[in-house]
Amino acid sequence: MKEQYILGIETSCDETAVAIIKNGREIVANVVASQIESHKRFGGVVPEIASRHHVEQITIVIEEAINQANLTFNELDAIAVTEGPGLVGALLIGVNAAKALAFAHNLPLVPVHHIAGHIYANRLVSELKFPLLALVVSGGHTELVYMKEHGHFEVIGETRDDAAGEAYDKVARTLNLPYPGGPHIDRLAQEGSPTIDLPRAWLEEGSYDFSFSGLKSAVINTVHNAEQRGETIAPQDLAASFQESVIEVLVTKAKRAVAEYGVGQILLAGGVAANKGLRNALEKAFVGQEGIELVIPPLSLCTDNAAMIAAAGSVMFEKGIRAELSLNANPGLDI
Ligand code: KG4
Ligand code: ZN
Repeated sequence: MKEQYILGIETSCDETAVAIIKNGREIVANVVASQIESHKRFGGVVPEIASRHHVEQITIVIEEAINQANLTFNELDAIAVTEGPGLVGALLIGVNAAKALAFAHNLPLVPVHHIAGHIYANRLVSELKFPLLALVVSGGHTELVYMKEHGHFEVIGETRDDAAGEAYDKVARTLNLPYPGGPHIDRLAQEGSPTIDLPRAWLEEGSYDFSFSGLKSAVINTVHNAEQRGETIAPQDLAASFQESVIEVLVTKAKRAVAEYGVGQILLAGGVAANKGLRNALEKAFVGQEGIELVIPPLSLCTDNAAMIAAAGSVMFEKGIRAELSLNANPGLDI
């Protein structure tokens, strides 16, 4: 049987990424050019700077991926690209590069939803078994997604305000930590104790939705009130308390959803999936439990990358999903 090679392109935020996946599950090239250093001094991603970097990097990163895989464009089966959601100017660079490659080499173009990509990062480490649940926690999204088969995504709960990663980044900023703040809070939390009382947003009974803005405000108020009283709070303890609140809500709702939906697999996805506290808490909740398998991708596949886009693209390609060369970036795309 002929091998299947899908080239994926991801430029929705601040990583210019290109990867090639063999037969849907094997990474043969994975290149990520990160722009974090350029955005750091602004405390967050500056959309205009992101677009400019993508323009500069995209052809270099494509070349590098092709070289890493030791392939020619003619050996590819399709080009998969993140269509949305994300920053429109950033997405456009990837979409246009993908269209140019598809046109020049007469290859099918496969549009991929960024969150579908994060979920399919798990297929690079384990075979997916349906029905399953995915806990998606990234800088822009916090969702519980039910999947009864490949390509079917039902959002059973989502954040009503801030995404988990956004809350991590804002809390980090309050503590004067550099962007992106998630990994810094994660590290500090391991050195501290959750001694500060912070709220948990459970919302209505039975709801799988999330809310992190109240928690974020509570952290900011705690810091400001302490400053006014001339006191200092150990940042380690604040980080540990914040992280405990986030994780408790995520894990409790995930456990309830697993039981209610009767799934046999739970996947973790998105940049916050790199969080050690969250990984440990999910392992504690699910490993050794009968009838449920927990899948967590390695750190490099949790934050934005194109291997996950190619992995999702491979499945969409098999399902016959194609985009015309008129494909546009869709910054607010629903899954
Ligand atoms: O999925 P991602 O790379 O980009 C989006 O699609 O949004 O997620 C980036 C987010 C950032 O908010 C970053 O602070 C967070 O993931 N993050 C973490 C950790 N590593 C990255 N949050 C908590 N703990 C971490 N170790
Ligand atoms: Zn992402």
